[in-house]
Amino acid sequence: MKLLVTGGAGFIGSNFILYWMKQYPNDEIVNLDCLTYAGNLENLKSVENNPKYKFIKGNIVNPSEVDAAMQGVDIIVHFAAESHVDRSILGPQPFTLTNVLGTQVLLDSAVKNKVRRFHHISTDEVFGSLTLNDKSKFNERTPYNPRSPYSASKAGSDHLVRAYSETYELPITITNCSNNFGPYQFPEKFIALAITNILEDKKVPVYGDGLYVRDWLYVEDHCRAIDMVLKKGKVGETYCVGGVTEDISNLDVIKKILKILEKNEDMIEFVKDRPGHDRRYAVDWSKIEKELGWKPLHSFDEWLKKTVEWYKNNEEWWKRLKTKKYQEYYKEQYGDLD
Ligand code: NAD
Ligand code: TYD
Repeated sequence: MKLLVTGGAGFIGSNFILYWMKQYPNDEIVNLDCLTYAGNLENLKSVENNPKYKFIKGNIVNPSEVDAAMQGVDIIVHFAAESHVDRSILGPQPFTLTNVLGTQVLLDSAVKNKVRRFHHISTDEVFGSLTLNDKSKFNERTPYNPRSPYSASKAGSDHLVRAYSETYELPITITNCSNNFGPYQFPEKFIALAITNILEDKKVPVYGDGLYVRDWLYVEDHCRAIDMVLKKGKVGETYCVGGVTEDISNLDVIKKILKILEKNEDMIEFVKDRPGHDRRYAVDWSKIEKELGWKPLHSFDEWLKKTVEWYKNNEEWWKRLKTKKYQEYYKEQYGDLD
């Protein structure tokens, strides 16, 4: 079997490629990625010389590059996206371009090349925001209500994927997952940024009152969910994928990281809130559990600890990412916080 993975040099995409090549060493993988600031081939060093793996530097908005990568492909797993909410607030256009137009270009090529499955990676953020102290969770029937340029562009891509299933009978599946954490996450996302800042003895910026809630999913659990959807999922269906966490605030997440690193809570710095900040995410993953037998296997506390260890042991990996461009972004986003 031959898989085309888009965005395979990013955080989840590279974890997925490493997972898949370990599970299914006979499958071929083509990784199509244009290497934005978030794409990093170092994540894939361990497989770069494997004859079953091929990297193509190409942009998903470019139909000829996409068509070339699609040759002989059975299954597409589509991760490529602009993925950071704060960057989408600073500049929404690349989000619409890659997430909406790029997805449509891929869909066109998938129809033309009659692929067996188009699996689209989406997010729980398309559903909007839940309130605190409310027991409700997002599920596959929750109406869409995206509230940031990022989530609006992901919602647009989900609608296109479903439209291609109806109109052109493209065999699709979609997963809407919660916040991933684990190795190889770019240090702009909350957990990776917090760990790396603390390791550099820098303060951790916490937005607003810090009482925002996210549903945390260890990245390998996510990869296994995609595997099960590809192997056993029903064509045309959507599956919500979430973590094992009870509601936990951002502030509590930081306190846990500080405790693991034996640092004081005065490293927390409350900063200006994100505009339109979604208060709470929580995912009901009972459909994928009932229908496919998936459930998260990695507990938050234990795997947060292991994730902290990974960043401690891989300083070279993340230090190289904190480039001049990164510092410029950091300054624009956080002002003079150091
Ligand atoms: P990431 O930002 O780490 O990686 C994105 C990758 O896509 C990078 O390698 C980048 O170079 C590539 N890319 C971007 N634009 C491209 C283009 N036009 N053409 C080709 N490649 C391009 O993202 P991630 O965190 O790994 O997220 C992967 C997917 O999962 C995204 O679709 C995202 O919306 C979704 N998702 C992420 C999370 C999360 O917690 N990180 C949660 C839910 C859903
Ligand atoms: P993030 O990792 O950006 O993921 P998302 O916004 O897609 O859920 O943020 C996770 C949570 O952490 C979110 O509530 C915003 C908050 N946050 C901070 O408090 N400070 C930060 O510096 C960042 C990046 C996020």
